[in-house]
Amino acid sequence: MQEVDFIWLNGKMVPWKEATTHFLTHSLHYGTAVFEGIRFYKTDKGPAIFRLGDHVKRLFESAKIVGMKNLPFTEEQVFDAIKLVVKENKLESGYIRPLFYYGYGKMGMDTIGAKIDLGIAAWPWGAYHGFEGVQNGISMKISSIVRHSKNSPFVHSKVSGSYYKSTFAKMDALDSGFDEAIMLDANGIVAECTGENLFLVKEGKLVTPGEKEILVGITRDSIMQLAKDEGIEVVESVIEKEQLNSADECFITGTAAEIVPVGSIEGKTLGSGKPGSITSKLQKAYSDLVHGKNEKRIKWLDFV
Ligand SMILES: Cc1ncc(COP(=O)(O)O)c(C=O)c1O
Repeated sequence: MQEVDFIWLNGKMVPWKEATTHFLTHSLHYGTAVFEGIRFYKTDKGPAIFRLGDHVKRLFESAKIVGMKNLPFTEEQVFDAIKLVVKENKLESGYIRPLFYYGYGKMGMDTIGAKIDLGIAAWPWGAYHGFEGVQNGISMKISSIVRHSKNSPFVHSKVSGSYYKSTFAKMDALDSGFDEAIMLDANGIVAECTGENLFLVKEGKLVTPGEKEILVGITRDSIMQLAKDEGIEVVESVIEKEQLNSADECFITGTAAEIVPVGSIEGKTLGSGKPGSITSKLQKAYSDLVHGKNEKRIKWLDFV
């Protein structure tokens, strides 16, 4: 991780190395924090944060879903603080991590009276799946770790505790020699990856799991809208595990990962094994978009 100058903690810019927390921080023990992952990019008009308003909205929505009440900052304050973190650290491009967490002073399962803290960090972060993955595609394992059920409140919330499933599935994939994991729901239907949504290309159309059992990704939504702009039909549908290998192309989407082609699933090569034409077209459209080269969607960028 590349260190920068400051982390924003409860309204103050704190030197990076001093932005620490007490051992008895509630969220450290019980996974009771909610967070976001946001990217910002270098453009001709300076750094631009991608869909900042939507990310801040989802952060507050996550807090609401898990019953985190009386947040000490408003959406507007968090929006402004995120811009300030990028500005004060003089960053051109990278990743932003805001996290609301129950701080020091309360232990036990209930959170009554627990103090809520907010931290916001930003740092330079290159391709999550590496340059090689983005160019040539990654290998996927179908995980035995079941994604959250649609009846779980956590499915639509970025609550830290529930990311243990993602961490476990990711490590299991890496330990087995794969790059990433595809997670199924309790009925064996394709849900999503450890930190990404999944798309198949079948006969020129995009097919992606519906919203019920996935974290509804902001990148997913962006790709769906870009696909429509390009005249590519998008279908939200149940995807059986068996359908994965008969797809013409497959790619995954997420803020950290961006758009990454899938080269093989469980060792079976998909198509030619190289990124397909629709995947490559959407990768380029997404790159243009986030770098300020799509006038139609310029409102998705907040310039710092
Ligand atoms: C489980 C999961 N699915 C999908 C995504 C993709 O969401 P987004 O595109 O909003 O980053 C993420 C990342 O936040 C995630 O953690």
